[in-house]
Amino acid sequence: MPVSSGRKFSLLPMLGHTKGKRSPVTCALKCDNACSGEVCNSSSNDYFRDIASATMSRRTALGFGAAGALAVVFGNAVTSAEPAAAGGPGLAAAAKQGFEKSKLRFTAIAPVDAAVDAFTVPAGYSWQPIIRWGDPLFNDSPAFDADRQSAAAQARQFGYNNDYTDILPLDAKGRRAVLFTNHEYTNEGIMLPAGFDAAEARSIGRAAHGLTVVELERRNKNQPWRYVKGAGLNRRFLTDTSYELTGPAAGSALVSTIADPAGRTIKGTLGNCSGGTTPWGTILSGEENFNGYFVAAGTSAEDKRYGLTSKPTARQWELDDPRFDTRNPGYANESNRFGWIVEVDPQDPTSTPKKHSAMGRFKHEGANVIVAASGHVVAYMGDDEKFDYLYKFVSKDKYRPGTTAADRRHNMTLLSEGDLFVAKFTGDSPAAEIDGSGKLPADGAFDGAGEWLPLVVDGKSKVAGMSVEEVLVYTRLAADKVGPTKMDRCEDVQPSLHTGKVYVACTNNSDRGKAGKEGATEVNPRSLNRDGHIVEITERGDQTSTVFNWNLLMVCGDPAKNTSAYFAGFPADQVSPISCPDNLAFDSVGNLWISTDGAPSSTGYADGLFKVTLAGPERGRVEQFLAVPRDAETCGPIVHDEERHVFVSVQHPGEDGSFEAQNSYFPDYVAAGATPKPGQARLPRPSVVQVFRTDD
Ligand code: FEO
Ligand code: CA
Ligand code: CA
Ligand code: CA
Repeated sequence: MPVSSGRKFSLLPMLGHTKGKRSPVTCALKCDNACSGEVCNSSSNDYFRDIASATMSRRTALGFGAAGALAVVFGNAVTSAEPAAAGGPGLAAAAKQGFEKSKLRFTAIAPVDAAVDAFTVPAGYSWQPIIRWGDPLFNDSPAFDADRQSAAAQARQFGYNNDYTDILPLDAKGRRAVLFTNHEYTNEGIMLPAGFDAAEARSIGRAAHGLTVVELERRNKNQPWRYVKGAGLNRRFLTDTSYELTGPAAGSALVSTIADPAGRTIKGTLGNCSGGTTPWGTILSGEENFNGYFVAAGTSAEDKRYGLTSKPTARQWELDDPRFDTRNPGYANESNRFGWIVEVDPQDPTSTPKKHSAMGRFKHEGANVIVAASGHVVAYMGDDEKFDYLYKFVSKDKYRPGTTAADRRHNMTLLSEGDLFVAKFTGDSPAAEIDGSGKLPADGAFDGAGEWLPLVVDGKSKVAGMSVEEVLVYTRLAADKVGPTKMDRCEDVQPSLHTGKVYVACTNNSDRGKAGKEGATEVNPRSLNRDGHIVEITERGDQTSTVFNWNLLMVCGDPAKNTSAYFAGFPADQVSPISCPDNLAFDSVGNLWISTDGAPSSTGYADGLFKVTLAGPERGRVEQFLAVPRDAETCGPIVHDEERHVFVSVQHPGEDGSFEAQNSYFPDYVAAGATPKPGQARLPRPSVVQVFRTDD
């Protein structure tokens, strides 16, 4: 271990944990206190202060609910949309299968108290980590040693705080696959002991950010995966990895720096959160809370809108590299080079990852792609900040379904050029708006209308007074000018490949309705929204449509304590309590799976992974599949239900502890009375976990 050289390592924010509040550590390190502490300061006992909006009540009182969405308990709201939606290439295989019973049968677990440090799975299932923070990736990588950490070792090991994760097959027999995961942020306070050398700690922290690609193998489809040290596709993406900026803002003066006057080559990726996997087998990853890594003047409208301030950053990388202080000569635009959607080809370890300027710059949670019936590629994207917006990108060129190298090369250009829109939701509208017939849809699932407001179309700016480059680099300010709907923190936004319907996880917004802030609206129906909700969007016609219908699938909460919780009409006393939806996934038969982030501070339960039935008489039924350890959030769910395997990223276990007094020992728990192996049970290690049946 490096010896302290006088300046002791400490994170800048004061990190006292306060029982019953959102972890101040998470707020400071993950989001740079984006919520200004107000989420953090919400009492955990004020469930009854959540107020379902008057609009929801009105809808019910007027009987709209009886005939409409609030009563779609036994309807076929989802399957009725299939004929219109099933034409797109992105829908084909899955849509034909229809909604069937999943092979992944389980009995929902009981909610787990947030203080429990355990990974909890249903009866008949077991779990094990596939890869943990610090695991060696290459033949020359040292084994993880909590007492001998170094930046050089970390650069050759799996990074920290894995978030978006996917597993892509590499052979037909199902014995080889490649795993991608990103590393959103670090928590040096539990990674390293007090007194650790400050400069080395900053270097370790940088090396623990970025991305990882690693190969997996197994003997057969019934076996859990294990990662392969030294495999050909293994790769770490670090802060000095070069990314190509694509699209209209590439080469713009707005992204030029002294180190990259051409404005086309960016070093590193920061704050990677959720993501998506494209039909052509690449991975998208969202650069989210990048602002927390930069010191800035903090006085311009642009700095303020993106949360860039003049205060020292929590990790103080500005002490090591001038680009992390945009006040330094030549680096005024460095922060403009983050906040993009990143695309990575996990099958080519020599490929240059891309940042796609055509998809706009904001606090990107992630991006999920679907191929429209027209062949254009459509990506849905959330800006995860209170009162920020929901976006949609439509590619200029069309998807090629072929599998040749030329087809794939073509498809890898699709996100570099296209149209960008931002969503405006309106409430209950005349039925005539639906199809001109004057009748409500047969499934009654119409709650509101919506419009995708253009920001860039056919390569031209649609925002008065802003060039295309300005719209794409300062997308938040451009969107402000066209009047979109302020949302309750859009996290994952994902289309179902069964139906084309799009699901928007609005994780929470405890500021809604506070003095000076916007109150409840139809699509964000709850003031002091601590539990979040899920919006279900149905594009009118092709997925590229600029108009849509929407309804509320779910208004989250613990029904035992929160009377405004709503589950598409499914009996609230028969669901697992769920709060703070974050990442979404679908299984092979069309059920929605939701991972959560923040339940401990709202319901008092550990975060987890939940299955939600979308079709048939059980539409709206929520069943908890697993719970994550103390202080952790659940990320990156992957549901391979045909193999009866489920994968999650366990992010920030033991977040509120310290190196000397840890809150979690996940995943290397030591059985009572056993002697820990070297490095075991010393500290929590964020990990990708596989859950599997024990009777396989
Ligand atoms: Fe990194 Fe929006 O969560
Ligand atoms: Ca997230
Ligand atoms: Ca997802
Ligand atoms: Ca989150």
